[in-house]
Amino acid sequence: LLTKEKNELLTQTDSGTPMGELFRRYWIPVLLSNELPAKDCPPVEVNVLGEELVAFRDSEGKVGLIDAYCPHRTAKLFWGRNEDCGLRCVYHGWKFDRNGNCLDMPSEPPESSFKEKVKITSYATQEMGGMIWAYMGPKEHVSELPKMEWMLVPDTHRYMMKFHIECNFMQSMEGDIDSSHSAFLHSNLKGQIESGGSKMFGREKLRQYSFKDMAPRFFVTDTDYGLLIGARRNAEEDTYYWRVTQWLMPTYSFIPKEPGDTYQCNMRIPIDNHSHWFFRIMWNPDRPLSKEELWDYENGGNIFPEVNPGTFHSKANKSNKYLIDRSLQKSLTFTGIKGIPIQDQACTESMGTIANRTKERLGTSDTAIIQARRRLITAALQLLEGHEPYSSYHGDSYFIRSTAVTLPRDIEVDKGAKELLRAHFNRNEARTNGE
Ligand SMILES: [Fe+2]
Repeated sequence: LLTKEKNELLTQTDSGTPMGELFRRYWIPVLLSNELPAKDCPPVEVNVLGEELVAFRDSEGKVGLIDAYCPHRTAKLFWGRNEDCGLRCVYHGWKFDRNGNCLDMPSEPPESSFKEKVKITSYATQEMGGMIWAYMGPKEHVSELPKMEWMLVPDTHRYMMKFHIECNFMQSMEGDIDSSHSAFLHSNLKGQIESGGSKMFGREKLRQYSFKDMAPRFFVTDTDYGLLIGARRNAEEDTYYWRVTQWLMPTYSFIPKEPGDTYQCNMRIPIDNHSHWFFRIMWNPDRPLSKEELWDYENGGNIFPEVNPGTFHSKANKSNKYLIDRSLQKSLTFTGIKGIPIQDQACTESMGTIANRTKERLGTSDTAIIQARRRLITAALQLLEGHEPYSSYHGDSYFIRSTAVTLPRDIEVDKGAKELLRAHFNRNEARTNGE
């Protein structure tokens, strides 16, 4: 349970808010690289952290991220012509480069120096791991890109997509680190994770322990990058089954996977206080993704939802009650809703666009959620007092993995799974062809 004030502190990310300023200390993903596929291609509107921006790839291939509106008479630069290293407003021809400088003002007399006095907001960008990242904080505090394993693997080893979610980032992120809901929300009536007809990848036998012990014990440890979240279940008489989620500041989660499986990262990036982009990345550090995996990801299987063509909006959504099938719910699956991300979306969006945390009744299974809130609120308040967040300047600390593993009962998970919790990808040794 949070007070109304704490809930606002946690969820509001506009410029000038404590959480908004914390987010602005980190590089955050704002677009998939392929949304700007070529030099001088059409610009794309970018709404992030409550700010309206427009992105364009200029003639040098560099990405500009600038104010959405022309400062002249506030027409949208989205209509603009992307030409010769700048975006030209179609209203009166004012032209801006990726650093927000006004290069040309053809509607003013040639002798006018007005254009030297006009500059618009622009943010630094970098491209890495198939994404365009932005730094929206003060220039004197510019930080390091997080070094996550999926950003370093070859393109063949990775798949990613983004989805528009109609609620605050925080309640969806809380779902990502809540390892206890899977055995309910994502299950079928036979006591398994429901595959939705598509093939289950990985070693699912271990996962069945999740259904024998429905009330995991949570062990949450503070780390440099965020939290190490161990959910411990009884396995055999002398062993525990551990599912370890990694939560990375400010808003990323690595979902538990068995060693050798294809790993998964969820990223929740606020569009505004009432909606966010959900980026989901699958990667396998050891091999290219298989045809089977890719087919499942691209065709609305269990991991990625089917979208309306040409959009990042899922076909099953709030407006059609997520296509819930009540007869399926009686006969086969726990929810009657198809696909893991849609099941998640139905629950988190149903809380309202900002969950009212003053009304919650949290239990022991919510330990990780409580800790992540505390961590974010503390970091935001410390930043107000001038203490910079450690992780924003230490990208290397993000070079980790989640895991799911069975260990003898007398061994602590961070020791027993130490090697499994470190990323190991080495570009020089990467296998890139065939399986
Ligand atoms: Fe879920």
